[in-house]
Amino acid sequence: MNEQTPTLEMRNVGVTYRKGLLGRQVAVAAVTHVDLTIARGETLGLVGESGSGKTTLARVALGLIAPSHGSLLFEGQPFDPRVRRQGALSVVFQHPEWALNPRLKCGTSIAEPLLVQGLRDREGRRRRVQAMLAEVGLDDALADRFPGELSGGQRQRMAIARALITQPRFVVFDEAVSALDVSVQSQILNLIRRLQAQHGFAAMFISHDLAATRYVSRRIAVMRSGAFVEVATARKFYDRPDHPYSQALHATIAGEAGCAA
Ligand SMILES: Nc1ncnc2c1ncn2[C@@H]1O[C@H](COP(=O)(O)OP(=O)(O)OP(=O)(O)O)[C@@H](O)[C@H]1O
Ligand SMILES: [Mg+2]
Repeated sequence: MNEQTPTLEMRNVGVTYRKGLLGRQVAVAAVTHVDLTIARGETLGLVGESGSGKTTLARVALGLIAPSHGSLLFEGQPFDPRVRRQGALSVVFQHPEWALNPRLKCGTSIAEPLLVQGLRDREGRRRRVQAMLAEVGLDDALADRFPGELSGGQRQRMAIARALITQPRFVVFDEAVSALDVSVQSQILNLIRRLQAQHGFAAMFISHDLAATRYVSRRIAVMRSGAFVEVATARKFYDRPDHPYSQALHATIAGEAGCAA
């Protein structure tokens, strides 16, 4: 592996969910065909309507589900579940509650991935947590609080701290700012950009919000019915979207902005 080896590559990836419904097997083709490369340190934005397959694609990228067809390479090698156990991949969800155990003090939750990684030294973990909290802009003292004793923005910062404490090389942000107040959203977007620049991890940023996606992404993929309809640089995508569906997405957003004004 060298500097040019992409962090993530997908070739003709598809995912079909099968579930029993009233005694019959029903198949849902959530992802039909995706080819994708994410370079080292690159952020790919992923937009598209609800149900288009964004989260499913992210779960494949994180090695949480196996694709029904196609292949996944991480740093040039066929995906090996060990890279997940080593903490090389992380995810930040819309709801920080999913990452933080309500019954554990935040500091304990943040340190947990280090324990999984095998860092037995308690004092070493405490120092890493302290440094991580500073990086996400939280006071040390908050490590002793429970998630329920924090604001929504502070909780999302905690979830980001937990996701990044193992120094992952690939991070998925799945609607990570969608549930936050607008003013807090921009703070968290700035934080994501800063952390990404400092740590150089590759990322997938999933959002319904085109402006937020543009702010953090170098390239943007537009997903519809399980496939990409357009992949373009963020600038190109905003100046001159090619696909009629991308143009429609823009028109919808412009319309909403017009109503708000
Ligand atoms: N575990 C599952 N079992 C069966 N079907 C599923 C499962 N998860 C998702 N699906 C279906 O797969 C399709 C894609 O879902 P997915 O969650 O990937 O969409 P999404 O683009 O992330 O949507 P949203 O923007 O609402 O989060 C949908 O039709 C969904 O109902
Ligand atoms: Mg989703």
